[in-house]
Amino acid sequence: MPQRLLIIGGTRFVGRHLAEAALAAGHGVTLFNRGQSGEPLPGAESIRGDRRGDLSALAAGRWDAVVDCCGYLPGEVAAMAQALKGRVDRYVFISSVSAYADFRQPNAEDSPLGVLADPDTTVVDGDTYGPLKAACEQAVRQVFGEQALLIRPGLVVGPHDHTGRFTWWPARVASAADGEPLLAPGHPEDELQFIDARDLAAFVLHAVAQGESGAFNVATLPRVHQFGDLLQHCVEAAGTRPQVCWASSAWLLAQQVSPWDQMPLWLGEDPGYAAFQRNNTLRAHDAGLRCRPLGETVADTLAWWRALPAEQQGFPKTGLPLERERELLSRLTTAQAS
Ligand SMILES: NC(=O)c1ccc[n+]([C@@H]2O[C@H](COP(=O)([O-])OP(=O)(O)OC[C@H]3O[C@@H](n4cnc5c(N)ncnc54)[C@H](OP(=O)(O)O)[C@@H]3O)[C@@H](O)[C@H]2O)c1
Repeated sequence: MPQRLLIIGGTRFVGRHLAEAALAAGHGVTLFNRGQSGEPLPGAESIRGDRRGDLSALAAGRWDAVVDCCGYLPGEVAAMAQALKGRVDRYVFISSVSAYADFRQPNAEDSPLGVLADPDTTVVDGDTYGPLKAACEQAVRQVFGEQALLIRPGLVVGPHDHTGRFTWWPARVASAADGEPLLAPGHPEDELQFIDARDLAAFVLHAVAQGESGAFNVATLPRVHQFGDLLQHCVEAAGTRPQVCWASSAWLLAQQVSPWDQMPLWLGEDPGYAAFQRNNTLRAHDAGLRCRPLGETVADTLAWWRALPAEQQGFPKTGLPLERERELLSRLTTAQAS
């Protein structure tokens, strides 16, 4: 049945895919955003506004559900929830698996959530992002109770990903010449877990239609994907044949390579993150989450990246500069020969 959806955000990555899927399914879509991160898709109604400011532009509407795609501070999420109380039947909050307190063991939806050292902080950084998401969830629950649907995605990947973290790998492989050494982190059997933004969008629409509530971890099933498979899919999609050189985590750490940022998706040897990519996602899969084949995600992400204007194909915040990678490969060859 067609729904009327309000999307807070909806022009950039996760929200954009959600808007696209909702429009394709015949739902009515209204986007609320500032107009800084892209244009609304054709067919969507657009309301301009800043969630940090005046929300009165939302006071005339009525929707079946809101999907809040850009909530990072509990005060702002609480204000949005209050403004929409009585105007939407269901509040869907895009949270994160980072909301959990601890990643040494796999987390299920009832695992303890992170707690802020300073409950009044408005600084969103590596330390506060997760516990702030947990506090945002609580703010939604306080206003919407059983009508709150809390979506905790793992790493979100696919076309339009502005972070470059996953895209780094297909792009790096595609940039390599046949036979060129390419540095790979850890071990080919290291586990990876993520969610294609299009599968996330489909699940959100499905969960809303089913009247689901409560929390859902949304990602591939644990132990399905490994780093070696990812690079193999990158090779197949790119049609290049680099020489993949695996460097152990211990060796990379000794070279001061920083996990996640400089070698995307690699988490090093930190026991505090041992199960970060092994969360329990059974509740979402039982409720209808379907994840497309990894090869499709890789190929589509590469095609999207290749179609970007050259000035947008860089990775300013992600990955190793090529010079540094070459220097490390040379040292690795020496270390392995001795
Ligand atoms: N990327 C991941 O791996 C990952 C993993 C887990 C969870 N998540 C969660 O997924 C959600 C979506 O991520 P994303 O990267 O797609 O989102 P995002 O880049 O934070 O959100 C961008 C969207 O929100 C709008 N927006 C931003 N600030 C706004 C404001 N003050 N008022 C109104 N609209 C505003 C933007 O439009 P304007 O700029 O035009 O306003 C744009 O449409 C986030 O909540 C994130 O925490 C992401």
